[in-house]
Amino acid sequence: MPNTVTITDNRTNASYTLPVENGTIRAMDLRQIKTGPDDFGLMSFDPAFTNTASCRSSITFIDGDKGILRYRGYPIEELAEHCTFLEVAYLLLWGDLPTEQQLKDWVHEITHHTMLHETTKKFLEGFRYNAHPMGMFVSTVAALSTIYPEAREVHNPAIRRHQILRLIGKVPTIAAYCYRHSLGFPYVYPDNDLTYSENFMNMIWKMVEPKYVANPVLARALDILFILHADHEQNCSANAMRSVGSALTDPFLTTAAAAAALAGPLHGGANEAVLRMLDEIGSKDKIPAYIKQVKEGKCKLMGFGHRVYKNYDPRARIIKWTAEQVFECTGRNSKLDIALELERIALEDDYFVERKLYPNVDFYSGIIYQAMGFRPEMFTVMFAIPRTTGWLAQWNEMLTQPEQKIARPRQVYTGHETRSYVPLTQRKELAAV
Ligand code: ACO
Repeated sequence: MPNTVTITDNRTNASYTLPVENGTIRAMDLRQIKTGPDDFGLMSFDPAFTNTASCRSSITFIDGDKGILRYRGYPIEELAEHCTFLEVAYLLLWGDLPTEQQLKDWVHEITHHTMLHETTKKFLEGFRYNAHPMGMFVSTVAALSTIYPEAREVHNPAIRRHQILRLIGKVPTIAAYCYRHSLGFPYVYPDNDLTYSENFMNMIWKMVEPKYVANPVLARALDILFILHADHEQNCSANAMRSVGSALTDPFLTTAAAAAALAGPLHGGANEAVLRMLDEIGSKDKIPAYIKQVKEGKCKLMGFGHRVYKNYDPRARIIKWTAEQVFECTGRNSKLDIALELERIALEDDYFVERKLYPNVDFYSGIIYQAMGFRPEMFTVMFAIPRTTGWLAQWNEMLTQPEQKIARPRQVYTGHETRSYVPLTQRKELAAV
């Protein structure tokens, strides 16, 4: 029978034929495989979702072996070359590139949702002067939930769309306010004459000049970085977005949960970690000693390796090109030379070749952000701004899929069998906990 797979249970000698659809079997089909009536049925064990499709999605396609990334079918290289970030945001959310009029309306709508409620500024004031911007970002996005209670109506498409506009419009403002708070600078209100990226630069860098004028090369580089970071299918934070959103939590709290996942150094926090690693290495002659430590398992080469890409990350290639454009404006950053040499040595080394470890999106992005003038603590926040669009596209798709239910994995229980309560005076001391 085509499109089926037959499993023989050697415990019982029974055979089961299961349908195969899109290269997958349904995990629930395994449940019928039992050794007897008391047996719960077979489950699959996949603690890090390494081989489990958690959803159907038509947003982003990755072929990790070939190094391909497409949004809604369009190669990332073409989008990065021709589009603006907001054009790509429209594509990810609504399925196709906008017409001229649609784009005009979309940009107008997003631009008119960039202001924050004034109480948000007071909320930010409560953070310590040295609070990490990512912690401030996550908390402030979550706090928006208290301002827009109607966002709880997640099954209403018009209300959903409104919150999407709010979130995409407001995340750059939140990010910029977090940055200004950590520097002790006054907040700068959004400027509706500017593009999405230019306005972000305005809110970050404007001081006393009456009108902020962005450097066009840097603004375009930022827009390209935003496009490259906009979505990446079922990564750790998108999975958090879908999982938390499946409980029908409002999009502000759900986005905060996704951003919290992004903050980890194995995910979006890697760009900050790369910069710290390059600082630690310090100069090209120290690279071989550092690589030796990595191979001995003492540390990881941050910005290298990916769960899905086992070939060069296509985003890293575009970022490398973008870095050159930025450095023509800002002057060359010495860290780039260390990074290029590190990449060259690693790509020739058997340890990295055998494990198919290549630079990922985070290897060069931090170097560009630093050359532009951002401090390392801001790098992950810079990632969260465009990724908010991807999270919302994943969330919106999840809520409209008929087969989606609350995410609730199973476990393999490894604890005690039933045991009787022991009175306090009769208990033995346990090993230190
Ligand atoms: N440096 C050194 N060795 C590495 C690295 C690295 N960066 N990445 C993986 N390896 C090694 C592992 O130790 C393992 O070796 P082993 O087979 O001898 O045990 C092997 O390569 C396979 O790695 P896993 O950890 O099993 O791969 P996994 O898919 O679970 O992890 C991850 C992927 C988390 C990205 C990993 O490569 C990593 O930690 N990289 C550094 C952090 C980083 O750059 N993260 C950003 C990812 S992109 C993003 O999220 C936006």
